[in-house]
Amino acid sequence: MKIPPVKGTRDFYPPDMAIRNWIIDGWKKVSLRNGFEEYDGPIFEYLQMYQIKSGDEIIEQLFSFKDRGDRDLALRPEITPTLARMVNQKISSLPLPIKWFSVPRLFRAERPQKGRLREFFQWNVDIIGVEGALADAEVIFCALDYLREVGLTPRDIVVKISSRKLLASILEKMGIADKRLESLYPVLDKKDKAPEGEFKQMLNKKVADAKIADKIQEFMEIKVISDIKKIIEPDDKINEAIDKIAVLFDWLKRMGVVEYCQFDPGIVRGLAYYTDIVYEIYDKRGELRAIGGGGRYDDLLKQFGGPEVPATGFGMGDCVLGLMLEERGLLKPKPTGTDYFIACVEPEQTLQDAVKIVAELRTKGYSADFSYKSASLSRQLKQASAQNAKKCIILGDELKNNELVVKDMTTSKQKRIKIDAFFAELNPPKAD
Ligand code: HAM
Repeated sequence: MKIPPVKGTRDFYPPDMAIRNWIIDGWKKVSLRNGFEEYDGPIFEYLQMYQIKSGDEIIEQLFSFKDRGDRDLALRPEITPTLARMVNQKISSLPLPIKWFSVPRLFRAERPQKGRLREFFQWNVDIIGVEGALADAEVIFCALDYLREVGLTPRDIVVKISSRKLLASILEKMGIADKRLESLYPVLDKKDKAPEGEFKQMLNKKVADAKIADKIQEFMEIKVISDIKKIIEPDDKINEAIDKIAVLFDWLKRMGVVEYCQFDPGIVRGLAYYTDIVYEIYDKRGELRAIGGGGRYDDLLKQFGGPEVPATGFGMGDCVLGLMLEERGLLKPKPTGTDYFIACVEPEQTLQDAVKIVAELRTKGYSADFSYKSASLSRQLKQASAQNAKKCIILGDELKNNELVVKDMTTSKQKRIKIDAFFAELNPPKAD
């Protein structure tokens, strides 16, 4: 019986691996040019870490297990709790602000579907220690810097932005007490994710007064911030939240990415720890789940036993992004290729010389390969083309004179050269 891969996981055959590397290399390059440093943590942590502040949805999706010492552990479903733990651990010696990024492999026991798997990679970009909206703008810019570079325009994607502070102060004014908010957020987060009827049912279960439930939905559907007045008379808290959103949009405008961004109070985020600005990035065709999402989580470090330090950041998965880029013909993995392919006219007689040359080329830093099979020269040249070899070294009769033939695989031009001269040309001795 052939054993299949576990549901919701992926096998990365070399062409898939080339795509994965291309995506991750792009994320890393953009993070570095935006001034972020890379970090990582363990793939499993104490289960308790995800029970502190991530919310019920994540808890339900944990792959958890006991170690031999009967400790409860879980595979990481996200890296933000690890980041909070790591920063807290060294808070007295780490200079603030911290600008860190990571590309963790994550695990969530979700029902696998298009763009949602049980194992995936997620680009994380976070700034810790900066309070103002400029830091939120900077992480959003970083996400867009990447998405723009791979060829996605404002016609393809949108960053939908809102604020939990705005939502909380509006709900508070509608009479919903602070304590109920935390359990209401995951329901509101489903507004555009669950079927309309289902959302309404969930909302009515949480908010018994149908008039208030309708008002909440009305608020979540407004398109321009000034329309808030049509639903509720803004108080100081509401105005403060509105001002912060305006400042964020102003920064995004200065950074030249505002045309990707849109105010959308329907964005709430599923995770429990967000405190203020929140956003999700979507494909405008609207068929897929979010490409990425994030926001401000100013209380998380404190919840993890540290001091009160403001923080903001986002996560972007490789699955939805990969699908989107594939649909649009924007996947451009680096072409694979060999610098030199060594072919033998008489493999039985010259394989040893070929292997010696291959080893020497590799030692000098060139990629080099040869055929294990004792095949005809034309078959070996076919293999060289299939491997995208730039040059082919042909070992034939000339070897008796210590010479080899170098064939340029793009121009098909050939030249005879002494083996010593060939290596000397490759690595001319430094004139000192
Ligand atoms: P999240 O919204 O849970 O946020 O995940 C962010 C992104 O990760 C999603 O938009 C999606 O692209 C990808 N993702 C999530 N679950 C899956 C899945 N099962 N399969 C494939 N892709 C998935 C967080 O994880 C936050 N910790 C992000 C963050 C960082 N907030 C602040 N800093």
